[in-house]
Amino acid sequence: MSAPPRTTPPRTTVPPGVPGHVAIIMDGNGRWATRRGHPRWMGHVRGAHTVREVVAHCARLGVRDLTLYAFSSDNWKRPREEVGFLFDLFASHIERQLASLVANGIRFTVIGRRDRLPPTLVDAIAMAEARTAAGTQLHVRVAIDYSSRAAIARAFTEGGDGTETALLPAVDLLVRTGGERRLSDFLLWECAYAELAFLDVHFPDLATTDLDGVFSDFARRERRYGGVPAVTETTSA
Ligand code: IPE
Ligand code: IPE
Ligand code: MG
Repeated sequence: MSAPPRTTPPRTTVPPGVPGHVAIIMDGNGRWATRRGHPRWMGHVRGAHTVREVVAHCARLGVRDLTLYAFSSDNWKRPREEVGFLFDLFASHIERQLASLVANGIRFTVIGRRDRLPPTLVDAIAMAEARTAAGTQLHVRVAIDYSSRAAIARAFTEGGDGTETALLPAVDLLVRTGGERRLSDFLLWECAYAELAFLDVHFPDLATTDLDGVFSDFARRERRYGGVPAVTETTSA
């Protein structure tokens, strides 16, 4: 992504038909690797490259909020080596992408618990959040050690803790790659009226054309929020 001119105005509106808040469950990294005879970590490395493309594409299309599920609070059940690898990968990608995020006016924040993350990752997150705080083109949130049930419970018991771990804006479009059709404790509250898209493609193979397909499907859906369809009056008196 190249740097926009300094005069880029803040994004205040989302283009017609474009989902304002897109949430993605980035699933299928392990299977992508295993099917190729590679160790699972290679799938995570390829997945991290896909994240870069997805962020750039959403920024181009005019999405306002993009929330990415990177590590669930249930993912602690995984082997210690895989968990450690993921945290190192997150820290190195945040550091490597920081300049590009700033140049492109992208605000970066992380949702979820931080108290169980390694200090190097917590520091990388804090630095990226501070450096990108003025971004007005797209707000990318990455969910790490995130549980939606825990976030909802916290929102009610504590009224949020001031670190963006409570409730987010309503999701317009939820995408899950990897073939599963479940939410796995992601944005349960915020997805109340989200349009859902389940893709069989594993996350490392997700292409911008797949996203284009999902977005054009979204643009054709009628969102009624419990009301009645908009009808053209055809009855004659
Ligand atoms: C998603 O891919 C990434 C994380 C949960 C960190 P998976 O690692 O769940 O990949 P599969 O579902 O085992 O293929
Ligand atoms: C959900 O995927 C979490 C992320 C993609 C980060 P999982 O692979 O952990 O979900 P389940 O176990 O298939 O429900
Ligand atoms: Mg999975």
